[in-house]
Amino acid sequence: MSEACSPDRSEDAAKPPRATRRDFLYIATATFAGVGATAATVPLFSQMEPDASTLAAGGPVDIDLKTAAPGQNIIALWRQRPIYILRRPPDLVASLQSPKVVDLLADPESKVWQQPPYAANWHRSIKPEILVVVGICTHLGCLPKCFPDASATTPVAAWPGGYFCPCHGSKYDLAGRVFKGVPAPYNLPVPPYRFVGDTIVRIGENPPGEKFDFDSIVQL
Ligand code: FES
Repeated sequence: MSEACSPDRSEDAAKPPRATRRDFLYIATATFAGVGATAATVPLFSQMEPDASTLAAGGPVDIDLKTAAPGQNIIALWRQRPIYILRRPPDLVASLQSPKVVDLLADPESKVWQQPPYAANWHRSIKPEILVVVGICTHLGCLPKCFPDASATTPVAAWPGGYFCPCHGSKYDLAGRVFKGVPAPYNLPVPPYRFVGDTIVRIGENPPGEKFDFDSIVQL
């Protein structure tokens, strides 16, 4: 995935123009469609009998999380985009408010319009234990990878746990909040979603009474 997202740094005017962010987004999405089902670290979770016409029309999709393990980042598709869903265990939820994490973040309170009002909180979600974000880097549109555990060396030195975009090194925490000092300018977007059962999340539909329009966010 990272190879497909490598930028063209050539200054040679005879070569095709540099790729735009939209180009990167297209490549990343197409690449994901090709390899997502076989990616071992971020498996494509089975959606609940998604109807082809529903998917094509960008309609809502239901995901049953009952077999998702705590700490597992699973992937669904909605509007041809990867949706990351992470079951956050209690210690991970508690870490989201740790000053050690919050001090690293550019927009810890989600003030930029990158999520519905019902996810504009410190955990960026309806339920603190379930994160739902669009898995597309807000820099040039590559697909960040989930490294939930802190590490001294992986994927980079002094890693606190979160999502890492290998293309140009952007980092997000486990609420999709972007770190300071990285190329990505915004938090990962949160799509409209709601729960239709204890373990079933419906992507693409707001909770009753909410009117969030995904197309109104600052940047996909
Ligand atoms: S696309 Fe550049 S850091 Fe993610």
